[in-house]
Amino acid sequence: MRTFSPILASQALWQLRIKKRPFVLSHGINAKCNMHCDFCEYWKEEKDEMETGDILRLLDEAKRFGIKYYNAWTVEPLLRDDLPQIMAYARKLGMITSMITNGKLLSQRAHELDVVDYLSVSVDGTDSYKDIRGMDFDDLLAGIEAAKEGRRNPILMNCVISGQNLDDIEQLIHLAREMGVWISFEALHQSGDIGQDVWDRIGIQDTAKYERTVNSIIRLKKEGYPIINSLTYLKMVRDRNMDFKCHAADIILNITSDGWIEHCRVQKERLGHVSEGLENVWNASKEKRAMTARDCNGCLFFGYVEGSLLFDFKPEVMAHYEWI
Ligand SMILES: C[S@@+](CC[C@H](N)C(=O)[O-])C[C@H]1O[C@@H](n2cnc3c(N)ncnc32)[C@H](O)[C@@H]1O
Repeated sequence: MRTFSPILASQALWQLRIKKRPFVLSHGINAKCNMHCDFCEYWKEEKDEMETGDILRLLDEAKRFGIKYYNAWTVEPLLRDDLPQIMAYARKLGMITSMITNGKLLSQRAHELDVVDYLSVSVDGTDSYKDIRGMDFDDLLAGIEAAKEGRRNPILMNCVISGQNLDDIEQLIHLAREMGVWISFEALHQSGDIGQDVWDRIGIQDTAKYERTVNSIIRLKKEGYPIINSLTYLKMVRDRNMDFKCHAADIILNITSDGWIEHCRVQKERLGHVSEGLENVWNASKEKRAMTARDCNGCLFFGYVEGSLLFDFKPEVMAHYEWI
């Protein structure tokens, strides 16, 4: 795919490196979910949601602040009726739009998603999918097929690797190629908000099998299968190596459904509230952001890792990371 645009790259460099401001707004666009996945903490939280008008005003302000990429990501964007209106507004402001969905409402709402440039769907397995997500795999695939119809922009299947789906991974990669979509992988993050009993049940127990599985992803990536992750990242996932300088909060402004600006999805340290103004919060939180990143034990969320490696101009990632 690789839609590399020199204009976008120079805008990103200007914003991130010269202005020292984030390029992406990652927004908890709603507060509820229609799936209750064991490994996810978001559906359990009770939060308010911003009104449509407040979100449009936030987008106006984000544009003035230099944000060029709007990502609707939690808790389940397709539960929000005004999603197309919000995405269209971001587009009108010149932003690239993206979202991630669990796909449960994809068949019903696929026709509304031409305002989404980058559409990601969580697909955490094939045979194991129903156990993990509680939905029939065929229904999910029907939703992805519906989303593909008449769509010029890419679709990405995102798979979180866990102890439950190791046997499905190769099959999933072949399926992505057959369906003409992209696929990404990321490591299961054992968040402290979820009980150890859950991690004992769904986490990686057989490490040799896990390493073999990630090695097969690396091999298929080298063979040209449509895997977006860089080899550097996949090797870090295999080795569970979190040794990278994190720039997540330099790149992504993380805003919750009730308007709090948080450091990132791992360090939910509040930096301020949108009502204080993005620029004010940003300028006042410089020290806090630096300290939070420095004291973090790390993660392997691919958006954070690949983004941070790109920020530091890591050549292999620049050459092989296949998403925007
Ligand atoms: C929080 S979900 C929100 C979007 C949507 N509801 C979905 O299921 O894709 C965003 C992404 O986070 C991933 N995720 C949730 N909990 C995770 C965890 N503990 N470790 C790794 N990824 C996780 C999901 O699989 C999904 O790809």
